[in-house]
Amino acid sequence: MARYPPDLDRWRAAGRIAAGARELGVRSTVPGARRRDVADAIEGYVRDAGALPSFPANLSRNVEAAHYTPSADDVATFESGDLVKVDVGAHLEGAIADTAATVEVGGSRRWEHLVRAARDGLAAGIAAAGPGVRVDQVSRAIESAIHARGVKPIEDLTGHSIERYLLHAGKAIPNVRGRSTDTLEEGEIVAIEPFTTNGAGRIEDGPFGNIVRFREDPGAATPELAALFARYRTLPFAVRWVTEPAEAAALRKGRRLVQRYPVFLERGGGLVAQAEHTVLVTADGVDVLTASPD
Ligand code: CO
Repeated sequence: MARYPPDLDRWRAAGRIAAGARELGVRSTVPGARRRDVADAIEGYVRDAGALPSFPANLSRNVEAAHYTPSADDVATFESGDLVKVDVGAHLEGAIADTAATVEVGGSRRWEHLVRAARDGLAAGIAAAGPGVRVDQVSRAIESAIHARGVKPIEDLTGHSIERYLLHAGKAIPNVRGRSTDTLEEGEIVAIEPFTTNGAGRIEDGPFGNIVRFREDPGAATPELAALFARYRTLPFAVRWVTEPAEAAALRKGRRLVQRYPVFLERGGGLVAQAEHTVLVTADGVDVLTASPD
């Protein structure tokens, strides 16, 4: 039995908003732009469109593969030649979209093969996906397309199924073969997200990337934590969003309940590109919910 979300229109709308936010982020990631301003612009776009960010705007640079969002006092600017992953999410009442594109700042095109490999991997994964398709078929398609560009996929970062208020639900979509025994089902929503590198093809944990998430409902014992949980549930959020001093203090003390995300760094010091769409598995293939608004 196909199990589509009952509010499919909401998932489609979240996808359109996330795609618009991604495009704005791509256009804004230019030499001299402040990283903090670009993150604010992306998140502002999502909010102005009537949605909420499903995670903070991730603007990971160069060897940073994922999970960096600016802190409140981040004054860094983008420089020509930076390879920036603009990874954005939007949700409407828990209907989540997740999408990413890579910008080579200033158009130097030195790392175009990495960017193209990620895009090709994504396109190949989307072409392979459909109802009843083994996830490993999708992974093989992604891996082959990336190798065809002479670079490596990052093997320990994967796409993922998405459920209401759950950005990373049960099913992983690996970017290399031989890792999944799952099958795609009609009505399911998944994010496909190949990462490419000229490094080792694996990641390691770096410093804190200013992103946190509740592991569980903190209950009512600390009103500030209860207020934060009401706002973000179990979705990732930015420390920078917590501007109320009492809430910020409670968040620092509530570490047992709060997961802190490290930045993922390429283990071999390689540069990293990424491309990502959220797709709906349909009766005869997939619908790309975060397609570019043309
Ligand atoms: Co994702």
